Amino acid sequence: MDLDSLRINGARLQHTLEEMAKIGATPAGGVQRLACSDEDKRARDLLVSWLREIDCEVTIDTMGNIFGRYAGTDPSLPPVMSGSHVDSQPKGGRFDGILGVMGPLEVLRTLHENGVRPKRSVVLVDWTNEEGSRFAPAMVASGVWAGKLDLQWAYDRTDIHGKKQGDELERIGYKGSAPCEAFPVHAYYELHIEQGPMLEAKGMIIGAPKGVLCLHWYDIHLEGTANQVGPTPMEGRNDALVAAAEMIIKVDQLPAAMGGNMVATVGEIHNYPNSRNIIPDGVHFTIDIRSWDDDHALAAFDKLRPQMLEIAQRHGTPIRIEETWKVVKAPFDQDLFERVYATGVKLGYPTMKWVSGAGHDASYMNQVMPSAMIFVPSIGGRSHVEVEETRWEDCEAGANVLLHCLLENANEI
Ligand code: GLV
Ligand code: MN
Ligand code: MN
Repeated sequence: MDLDSLRINGARLQHTLEEMAKIGATPAGGVQRLACSDEDKRARDLLVSWLREIDCEVTIDTMGNIFGRYAGTDPSLPPVMSGSHVDSQPKGGRFDGILGVMGPLEVLRTLHENGVRPKRSVVLVDWTNEEGSRFAPAMVASGVWAGKLDLQWAYDRTDIHGKKQGDELERIGYKGSAPCEAFPVHAYYELHIEQGPMLEAKGMIIGAPKGVLCLHWYDIHLEGTANQVGPTPMEGRNDALVAAAEMIIKVDQLPAAMGGNMVATVGEIHNYPNSRNIIPDGVHFTIDIRSWDDDHALAAFDKLRPQMLEIAQRHGTPIRIEETWKVVKAPFDQDLFERVYATGVKLGYPTMKWVSGAGHDASYMNQVMPSAMIFVPSIGGRSHVEVEETRWEDCEAGANVLLHCLLENANEI
């Protein structure tokens, strides 16, 4: 058959995404499918059943990663691979991650119904816990698979209720038996929404990101002295929340103080005992620093650290700084990156080269195999929110680019 004219079925992709969006649907139109939750399990079960319908061999590894292999004609050749994640943020959207799993599923369905068997097998993957929102860090399972994070360490990560990731994986029935370790892969593509405003602003439909920023996570713990708020004078208090507030302002000011390309955010905070009439005696908050320059991000924290120590000292609130996670910037494989760009142009979509500010499993894949990503626009640049939106025709366009990138790599020796 004429492979050049092959296209995915946009209506079927839309229907598939809509079915998935029912799992963990939130009242404001988003989804909540936290890693290793019951909703995550239901989405995984549905994915596995869909993979089996098109004769894919399904394997689950010890980190819960799901692989669906669509057999090529030469099993001796390393496969091509594409995937993302079915887990979501607590109030997440209907496209982040899931498009990068349903997109390749639609590609496999298209190949299957047309009887197309490329030389290399095509493997779809769902990576466990990309978001890192319930169990930090993010991208943990692709990190273990790539040999960059330790399996037992990943199992031992706990959520705010003290539940361990490994136990929760077992509870939902997805602690598989295949070893969680990299196997040879010829090329990895991840289809994703941009999660930023640039494609829409430039009137583009396809983005070819040249890579993913580095990502550094820290956890800050402050200890204060609790007391009754009424009788206790303002002087001499050790208020952990006031100290945290000063530190958060410093984090927000950090990118401007450092210059260059950088963002810094405090997105999570826990205050103890969290009662309006008790001086807080414990605060835990997170810091997320991202940049295209690993050294610049490290230098930023080197600048911040003494400022936080000074604030803690002044308030009499002992501080503990945890360096939770660092992932280096991922400049994608030049050939695959150019292939994404050229394929977007060839298929007639307005296409631009760009960079990814969001973290993706492709960052870890990029460390062990040639990798690249395909972006489609986020309406209003909104993501990690329930109103996250991408036009159905843009999802279709992204899946068509994925189809042709995968086919080219799958048929080359
Ligand atoms: C992942 O979603 C991230 O960019 O934090
Ligand atoms: Mn994502
Ligand atoms: Mn996300």
